[in-house]
Amino acid sequence: MPVVRLQPVDEDSFYHVIKLKIRPEQKGFVADNVFSIAEAKVHSTFVPLAIYADQTLVGFTMYGFDPDAQERWIIRLMIDQAFQGQGYGRAATLEAVRRIRKEFPDCGELFLSFEPENKNAESLYLSLGFQHTGRVEEGELVMRLALE
Ligand SMILES: CC(C)(COP(=O)(O)OP(=O)(O)OC[C@H]1O[C@@H](n2cnc3c(N)ncnc32)[C@H](O)[C@@H]1OP(=O)(O)O)[C@@H](O)C(=O)NCCC(=O)NCCS
Repeated sequence: MPVVRLQPVDEDSFYHVIKLKIRPEQKGFVADNVFSIAEAKVHSTFVPLAIYADQTLVGFTMYGFDPDAQERWIIRLMIDQAFQGQGYGRAATLEAVRRIRKEFPDCGELFLSFEPENKNAESLYLSLGFQHTGRVEEGELVMRLALE
């Protein structure tokens, strides 16, 4: 599996992160990165991160805390269309989970969601140990990973 680094989006990477693109047929699977970064400006727990393989920017992810449900979530994940299918999505998800475990050692569970037709995302998350919860939120299926 490739090694990836998650780096806070900063004044330099911002302009590159907002240009990352998914495939046309994936439209609707993830919010625009510029929207996610704007959300992070108003939600103090949201952490927007650029995904790098060596020095190459390959994607974007964001995690955060939902104070109403008292749940920690991986809120976004996208890999640029040019870099999909090379293991970066898997590596970035594992790295986000590792980072969340380290930052929040008392966190017992982690959530994420995806559009029902997004089979690639579903198989990725299932293979990493996330389990279906049966919950549907804003049309998306919610999965949970137990963190021990
Ligand atoms: C979903 C996404 C993040 C996966 O990232 P990726 O780097 O392409 O995925 P990886 O190469 O790490 O593959 C990991 C797993 O995803 C699944 N997967 C990814 N691409 C796939 C494809 N074309 N066909 C089938 N399964 C696929 C597989 O389970 C794969 O595991 P495998 O290689 O052992 O079969 C990426 O395709 C993406 O950005 N999609 C558009 C945005 C999106 O859907 N984000 C998720 C929102 S919840």
